[in-house]
Amino acid sequence: MGIVYLIGFMGSGKSTVGKKLGNVLQLPHVDMDSFIEEQTLRSISTIFSEMGENTFRNYESDVLKKIEHGVVSTGGGIVERRENIEWMKAKGTVIYLRTTFSEITNRLHNDSLRPLWKKSVSERRQLFEHRCDLYESFADYVVDTDNKGTKEIAEEIDRLL
Ligand code: S3P
Repeated sequence: MGIVYLIGFMGSGKSTVGKKLGNVLQLPHVDMDSFIEEQTLRSISTIFSEMGENTFRNYESDVLKKIEHGVVSTGGGIVERRENIEWMKAKGTVIYLRTTFSEITNRLHNDSLRPLWKKSVSERRQLFEHRCDLYESFADYVVDTDNKGTKEIAEEIDRLL
């Protein structure tokens, strides 16, 4: 199985499901966004506003390569760099937590912590559609998350692995 990578759009539950899955599999859990915040002593939104998205993507790619073991909750944009996709495919199993746009909108509403969600509805939807194609084409498994609890999702992934 190697490393288990959870991918999916913002608000798909990667962080909470990752934590639960780590418990179920008895493996360490790494949340990449939290890891970056701890390492840089800055919030994700501060990194975006002060240093730009490209710097954040560099941090993200570096962190991905440092993780050698366990369950990894990636950030929604991990698939924006081809090298990251290739890395994950080579090192482990990639699980796509698939959530509909309306469910994401319900969950995030007007979340202000995610710089790429602070956009117009049409820009959000455009990003969602572009990303979903990427998630779907690179995942080893797709798990639907609408109307499911995080424990149920973690158990479903456990059965797939
Ligand atoms: C991003 C998603 C965020 C975070 C950053 C960029 C994206 O993570 O990495 O704001 O590009 O979709 P979550 O998917 O955990 O919200």
